[in-house]
Amino acid sequence: MELEGKSALVTGGGRGIGRATALALARQGCAVAVCARTREEVEETARQVRGAGGKALAFTADVSLEADAERVVAETISQFGGLDILINNAGVFVLASVLETPVEEWDRLMAVNARGAFLFSRAALRHMRERRAGAIINISSTAGKRAYPEQSAYVASKHALLGFTKALALEAQPYGIRVHAVCPGVVATQMSAVTHADRPDRMEPEDVAQAVVYLLSLSPQAAVDELVLRRNGAVPWSS
Ligand SMILES: NC(=O)c1ccc[n+]([C@@H]2O[C@H](COP(=O)([O-])OP(=O)(O)OC[C@H]3O[C@@H](n4cnc5c(N)ncnc54)[C@H](OP(=O)(O)O)[C@@H]3O)[C@@H](O)[C@H]2O)c1
Repeated sequence: MELEGKSALVTGGGRGIGRATALALARQGCAVAVCARTREEVEETARQVRGAGGKALAFTADVSLEADAERVVAETISQFGGLDILINNAGVFVLASVLETPVEEWDRLMAVNARGAFLFSRAALRHMRERRAGAIINISSTAGKRAYPEQSAYVASKHALLGFTKALALEAQPYGIRVHAVCPGVVATQMSAVTHADRPDRMEPEDVAQAVVYLLSLSPQAAVDELVLRRNGAVPWSS
């Protein structure tokens, strides 16, 4: 996909991997919309995209709410004149053993990490199907491929997201829509500060952004379903 002149929507684009991805897409010539709950952070991402010479939109939204998904996708399509690329990146994390995971936290992680991607994909898919073109990239995790202790809700939500990605890819392919998953290991963001603050070898958000751009840059005859991106110091082939 040639990215110049395309439009993209990045959920969770207020900081971390989402902001780095928004900026990377803008540098490739994409108009970029971002959404998250914190207004100042999405507005700062939009400011940085515009500073790099790109077109930007910023929305406050909770990805777990159907009305927010419908509104953000519809507004992006209306203001950019279409939507070519959706990056389902918004995510939340909790560190707790199975016995100590509150039911509300389990529900919150499933709602944001799995249902959020379903809601945004569904809204975007209607539009992309009509145009018979588009790309959807879901940011899962190595926790979508394997398990880690004290992360049961996160692991379950990221496995759910990966399963959803596979089913979506099958339904979208006949309409010329590409669907991919990126499964990163530990990345230096606010999220990993909970678990890996002392780790000197975390990846940078820009590493994931580069993987996203790579997936979108493949020639029309080639496709990569899933890209597992691990810390160089992590055990090879462990996910
Ligand atoms: N960091 C890692 O080590 C790592 C590794 C593998 C995968 N990932 C995945 O990468 C994605 C990005 O994570 P990150 O590390 O960049 O984390 P982050 O710095 O905490 O950023 C998460 C983004 O998601 C947004 N978000 C959270 N809940 C939301 C909701 N209900 N509605 C809308 N936006 C919401 C946050 O904004 P608000 O809080 O303002 O809403 C923020 O913009 C997540 O899906 C995460 O699971 C991260």
